[in-house]
Amino acid sequence: TGAITLDPGYKNSGACKSAITFLDGEEGILRYRGYAIEDLAEKASFLEVSYLLIFGELPTSQELERFETNIRKYTLVNEEMKNIIDGFPKTAHPMGVLSALTSALTAFNPKSVNVENEKELYEGICKTMGKFLVIATWTYRKAMGYPLNYYDNTIGYVDNFMKLMFSLPTGPYSTNPKVVAALDKLFILHADHEQNCSTSTVRMVGSSHAGLFASISAGVSALWGPLHGGANQAVLEMLEEIHKAGGDVEKFILKAKDKEDPFRLMGFGHRVYKNFDPRAKIIKVAADEVLSSLGVEDPLLDIAMKLEKAALEDEYFKARSLYPNVDFYSGIIYRALGIPTDMFTVLFAIGRLPGWIAQWVEMRANKEPIGRPRQVYVGSPLRDFVPADKR
Ligand code: CMC
Repeated sequence: TGAITLDPGYKNSGACKSAITFLDGEEGILRYRGYAIEDLAEKASFLEVSYLLIFGELPTSQELERFETNIRKYTLVNEEMKNIIDGFPKTAHPMGVLSALTSALTAFNPKSVNVENEKELYEGICKTMGKFLVIATWTYRKAMGYPLNYYDNTIGYVDNFMKLMFSLPTGPYSTNPKVVAALDKLFILHADHEQNCSTSTVRMVGSSHAGLFASISAGVSALWGPLHGGANQAVLEMLEEIHKAGGDVEKFILKAKDKEDPFRLMGFGHRVYKNFDPRAKIIKVAADEVLSSLGVEDPLLDIAMKLEKAALEDEYFKARSLYPNVDFYSGIIYRALGIPTDMFTVLFAIGRLPGWIAQWVEMRANKEPIGRPRQVYVGSPLRDFVPADKR
């Protein structure tokens, strides 16, 4: 088989050719299908960006309308799914429940999405966009013991997220348009990031020709980890801890630098960005805007800014090119919008969904081979079997 190139963590291995997202880590550039992330975050809507990622072009107004209409068509989730949610304890982490529910969708939609048939593919994509949003919010309703809500066809996708989460049968419900606009922007910033851990997982699972829901469910599990999407929850918990400890950021910088201490500065560092994370720049400005427009004063924002400044001036972080990443400020916004901490990574998943779908479709359309890395075996050479009584 020839020599094997060992590359743990795939730091230098390309796994595929892709026409979806361009990322230049040295220059801090991120583009979806050729459009600058800064432009999209400011001017586009999340569904427009989803369409762009999945289908390759910005939609015309008719195409966008059709996309929204078709998503709405599939937002009902089979009532039997409720039996599955009922089986979880209330204390279950929403990401675990979301992964399980996404996987359970395969049982109610057993027909695999057919990439060769345009109509079926379109239907499968809209189904995924519709149902995933609903079950994502159900993980929160379950934890709160609230009745599960249904999608409201009279309002938009991101509006629906808030309504699905927070409307109660007992009272009137209204959302602040500023909240919806902030969420829309956050979802856009999370929508794709080329071959990150969860996306590579989605492609890897799909490469065995497992279905779209099964592949996405695996992506949710990969995203959950604190080194990846779970970092947004971890950042907020870290900021709370620093706040409780009197706001002493230097102490935590020292801990992060101590190689004997497993603590890492959450929300700092990135595998690819070695200069700055363009998403973090946009999010930092958005955090400031959202907090002031909602009139929220959060001491954690001050701590985050102090921590960022201290780290950026520190030799350890400078030498390793460690900068704040997308997760550093996003949690502060989510918190200001009233989203509970353990739901942060679920929001990341809602934002990343179109990216996962786009990458899965591209992988199948390009007829990529099954993902199957090799290894360098370092175990024992051949040994004789020893019967149990002789061991
Ligand atoms: N705090 C302290 N030291 C760090 C940190 C950090 N956050 N990140 C990296 N380092 C050090 C690391 O110890 C190593 O030092 P040395 O060369 O002395 O051994 C050096 O920097 C290189 O780090 P690495 O772990 O080899 O880099 P990686 O590319 O494998 O990991 C990372 C990238 C994002 C997993 C890592 O920076 C990290 O754990 N950051 C904290 C978690 C986080 O914020 N994750 C979100 C990533 S962005 C969005 C997303 O994917 O969800």
